[in-house]
Amino acid sequence: MSESQDTSCAVNRCLCHDLSFENLRGLAEEKGLDFEGLQKETNCSMGCGLCEPYVRLMLKTGKTDFPVLSAEEIERELGDGGETRSGLI
Ligand code: FES
Repeated sequence: MSESQDTSCAVNRCLCHDLSFENLRGLAEEKGLDFEGLQKETNCSMGCGLCEPYVRLMLKTGKTDFPVLSAEEIERELGDGGETRSGLI
């Protein structure tokens, strides 16, 4: 029996506010917003906060679809040792 890769765990949106990273990236590019500006504009990452490191990664890398990452992987990817409100890194 073969196992297929489960892609249902992809992280691609702020679930609390139903905001896709693709739309958030477009808005950030259009208006020149940083993370805080994007929060003020959309309320992204203002709910549970679990999407915050992914939104920061999206802004840094331009990617809009991520696997579930460990705190260490996120810290390595962000590379700045930055703090997040959620305290994940
Ligand atoms: S998933 Fe974005 S604040 Fe909860």
